[in-house]
Amino acid sequence: MPDVAELERRARRLLPADAYDYYAGGSGRGATLRASADAWGQVWLAPRILRDVTAVDTTTAVPGATLPTPIGVAPTAYHGLAHPDGELATAAGAARAGALFVLSTRSTRRIEDVAEVVGGLGGTWWFQVYVMRDRELTAGLVRRAAAAGAGALVLTGDTPVVGRPLGPGPSPRAVSGPDFLVNLGPLEDLSRAVHAADVTFADIGWLAEISGGLPVVVKGVLRRDDALACAAHGAAAVIVSNHGGRQLDGAVPAAWALPGIAAALAARPGGQGLPAYADGGIRTGSDALAALALGARAVFVGRPVLWALACGGAQAVQELLDGLRADLAQQMALAGAASVSSIAAGITGPGWPSPGLL
Ligand code: FNR
Repeated sequence: MPDVAELERRARRLLPADAYDYYAGGSGRGATLRASADAWGQVWLAPRILRDVTAVDTTTAVPGATLPTPIGVAPTAYHGLAHPDGELATAAGAARAGALFVLSTRSTRRIEDVAEVVGGLGGTWWFQVYVMRDRELTAGLVRRAAAAGAGALVLTGDTPVVGRPLGPGPSPRAVSGPDFLVNLGPLEDLSRAVHAADVTFADIGWLAEISGGLPVVVKGVLRRDDALACAAHGAAAVIVSNHGGRQLDGAVPAAWALPGIAAALAARPGGQGLPAYADGGIRTGSDALAALALGARAVFVGRPVLWALACGGAQAVQELLDGLRADLAQQMALAGAASVSSIAAGITGPGWPSPGLL
């Protein structure tokens, strides 16, 4: 089982302090950041016994692809701070592990170059969209991602403004210089690339249209009513996420919001059940199993991938993801679940899914 805490300690020694602080940090007093990781450990399971688990199958289907592992790479900004190959290395590690790679709008490597790496390894990648104040700038990135072979767009809905960081804020190394502009091109007026505060559900349709019909997955959903509104506006899936505790401090951990959202989406009248995914604080196969048991069909990891990238580039990213998958497979066997779809069918123990909130 990968030791993510040890990986983080090693990365901390290797990274410049401002880069480590930027990656590790949360917003406000860090309440959401701390609670999110702990919450998975509070999910109690009622394992099944006497099931044949000789062959545990971790494959899961997402729009447009079947993936060997349900543990993907969350979009995170500025991988160039962690490794000279930046997102090229992360994408290669993910593709070799069979894991979905979500490329951030704030990538420090060119979209087309990342696409080539993933395509060459037969992997799957999605493009995460921050709608920027300049819609044409945003549309340009989306069209390039679609042309380069992104399988879906991930619209991040929880960032109309950037959360107030606990520490000193984004590293100046991250937010200035040529890496920041690698996909945006020369920008005289940097305010064009600032997050738009007027993004609404209608933008799900806008993104589908300008991308030529790519599935749009909405990230940052923490309420049932918002999940249903995403579905009504044509989203292909939602990611239950509080942005790694970096946006609204006090926002609920994904583990608490997920059961209600997954149930509401599955029960949509007349609709095919829309999938829910989850991220935030997932560090072990057990955490992933808890999320899958609460109704997620896939999960994403953010910071652990950055620590692996800093420690050993593509190879370490692959080892982390392979290790998490193997750990999940072992936990699935112990839970009596030979496939991802059989996890969702009721292995949460008494009290779960209890929180019925939101
Ligand atoms: C993020 N996250 C994020 N999300 C997004 O949609 N676009 C982005 O560019 C970023 N950038 C980013 C940078 C860093 C350093 C972190 C830690 C996070 C949020 C990310 O996708 C995900 O929601 C969380 O990271 C998941 O939590 P864990 O696994 O990091 O605990």
